[in-house]
Amino acid sequence: MSNRTFTMIKPDAYASGYSGAILQKIESAGFKLVAMKLTRLSAEKAGEFYAVHKERPFYGELVEFMSSGPIVAAILEKDNAVADFRTLIGATNPANAEEGTIRKMYAKSVGENAVHGSDSDENAAIEGSFFFSAFERI
Ligand code: CMP
Repeated sequence: MSNRTFTMIKPDAYASGYSGAILQKIESAGFKLVAMKLTRLSAEKAGEFYAVHKERPFYGELVEFMSSGPIVAAILEKDNAVADFRTLIGATNPANAEEGTIRKMYAKSVGENAVHGSDSDENAAIEGSFFFSAFERI
């Protein structure tokens, strides 16, 4: 069990002005910010980040959406970070997300689902390193 996970506030939530509310919910749930940046992914970088989904029918749509506007990327620290963060954000499809979860509150659809959360300790480390050098994290 690792104590770090990686998240992005996606272009839909950033554009809707939900970044502050989402970060507040994350901190209120006991996650500590250990790295954070506001940036924008090129289509090439979004494709690289989501390369694991390359064969999926929604890959093109996902890459287009994730490069459509600014995102907030962050590394978060808490005991049991990966699993607890996935509970906090709720199901991938907001229609199936529990009441009070970030996706239930702020996501529009399965494609535009407000936030990303790593699905394993291994991917949390890979995704964190995709965005942040050692110098950029505490
Ligand atoms: P995320 O947790 O960032 O990881 C992969 C993303 O693919 C997922 O969130 C969704 O935003 C997206 N995704 C999953 N299923 C679909 C789908 N059926 N149509 C469009 N996008 C999807």
